[in-house]
Order: sequence, then C-alpha cells, then structure tokens
Amino acid sequence: MKQIHLSPRLQMAADMVVQNERHGWLVDVGTDHAYLPAWLLQTHREQFAYVIATDLREGPLDRARQTAREAGCEGDIDFRLCDGLAAVDPREADVIVIAGMGGETIVHILEGAHWEPGWWRGKGTMEDKVLILQPMSSMPELRGWLQKNGFSIEEERLAREGDALYTVLLVRPGEMAPLSPAELWAGKNDRDPLRGAWLDMWIARTGRALEGMAKAQGRDVLPHKQELEEVLSGLVDMKKEWTQWEQ
Ligand SMILES: C[S@@+](CC[C@H](N)C(=O)[O-])C[C@H]1O[C@@H](n2cnc3c(N)ncnc32)[C@H](O)[C@@H]1O
Repeated sequence: MKQIHLSPRLQMAADMVVQNERHGWLVDVGTDHAYLPAWLLQTHREQFAYVIATDLREGPLDRARQTAREAGCEGDIDFRLCDGLAAVDPREADVIVIAGMGGETIVHILEGAHWEPGWWRGKGTMEDKVLILQPMSSMPELRGWLQKNGFSIEEERLAREGDALYTVLLVRPGEMAPLSPAELWAGKNDRDPLRGAWLDMWIARTGRALEGMAKAQGRDVLPHKQELEEVLSGLVDMKKEWTQWEQ
C-alpha cells in the first residue's frame, strides 16, 4: 500500500479538516488526484462517515481512482463526475473542501450548488456545514462573496511551498464583521508565523499594480486607482500592527 504524502498547501487544508470534523460526511470538490481524501482516509479513517470526491472531468477522476487504489481506500471514496456540488445532496455534505481553484470558480461552485437557499445552515439534527476553501486567485472576490452571502471566515492559515504562499480559509455560516478593503485582499490580521511575508507579498503586488496604473490615462482608471491606494494603505497598517505583535 502506498503511503500518501501531501504538499504543505494540501496538508494545511487536510489538517483544518481533521481539526473541524468529528464523524461526518466529507466532500472534496475538484479532487483531481484525490490526494487529500486518500490521506485523510489513511490517517484519520474513524473521523469520516462517508467520503465523496467530485471532479468536472473524467481524466482527473481516473487519476483519483488510481490514487485511491494504490492507497488502499478505493472502496471508501464515492467518485462523482459533476460540476462542483451538482451531483451532491446537501444531506451528504458536512465538510466541503474546495482547494486549488481560482476564487471565482469557488464562488461559481458555491452559487451553483442548486440547493435550497440557506443550505449551509444545518436543519433538524444536522449541524451547520463547514467549508475549507483554498483559493489560488481572486481572493477579494471570494471573501466579498462570502461576506455578502451569510458566511463567516473563522480562521485563515498560511502555507509555504518554495517561494509561493497559500491561504486556507475555514468558513462557517454566520455573521462576520465587515471586512475592510485591505482585509478583502489579504484576510484579517492574525498570529500566523507567515502573516508578515503574506502581507509583504500583497503590499508588493498592490504597489506594482499602482505603478502600472500611474502610466495609464483616462477617467475610468481613477476610481480603480483610488480603491487600490486604499487597499495599499490598509495593508501597510496591517503590517505595522503585525510587526508590533511580533515584538
Ligand atoms: C488544480 S486541481 C486541484 C486539485 C486539488 N483539489 C488540489 O488542491 O490539489 C483543480 C481540479 O478542479 C477541477 N475542477 C475545476 N472546476 C471544477 C468544477 N466546477 N467542478 C468540479 N471540479 C472542477 C479540475 O478538473 C481539476 O481536477
């Protein structure tokens, strides 16, 4: 039997699943190689009543089945070919992982669940759902959508792979204090040891975008520039706050 090893990014997502699930139904959306569910089943089998892995395409689902075969857990994963959660009933999902996709795709998947409004709230004996989201891009759009649609980002954890930093969001239904423009981009300040490097990355990216805009002309650029300046100033304040915490 092959032992599954996860990259730091997927390991962070898997650790957040383990910490937040007792004995429920797990859905890994866009599973590709199914490394995450296979690792969870190899190491924490007793924590899951049922595991579903979905993907939009046959190729990734074939790879997923192969990983599960090699890892000795093929019979423990229900593979479904579908767009996002389209072939999943809300009663089959306690924890939903959507990792390694753009923020806009994650929003598309959550919006397109075709479940009744408010599906994320538990009904009867069911508990509220937990979402573990790992966006690769479009983070302001994702955080903004979560805020507008009755979700609360309870925690964000960071992982490093080489020069790249990744964030993983733990999301539950509920009210969240409004996010500032900078928080929409970089998330709320917390004590994650990689937070300083994460803020530096966003400060550099925003600065570069503003430099690019300095050369651009036209009235339509101005509101976007002002918005980005507000983001940059908020990011710099968050970095100061974080540095003070660290001292
Ligand atoms: C980059 S891989 C990420 C795999 C894994 N979740 C991870 O984080 O390493 C993205 C996978 O999501 C799948 N995917 C993209 N859009 C999807 C959608 N709307 N519904 C289901 N799967 C989707 C792709 O086919 C691909 O296998």
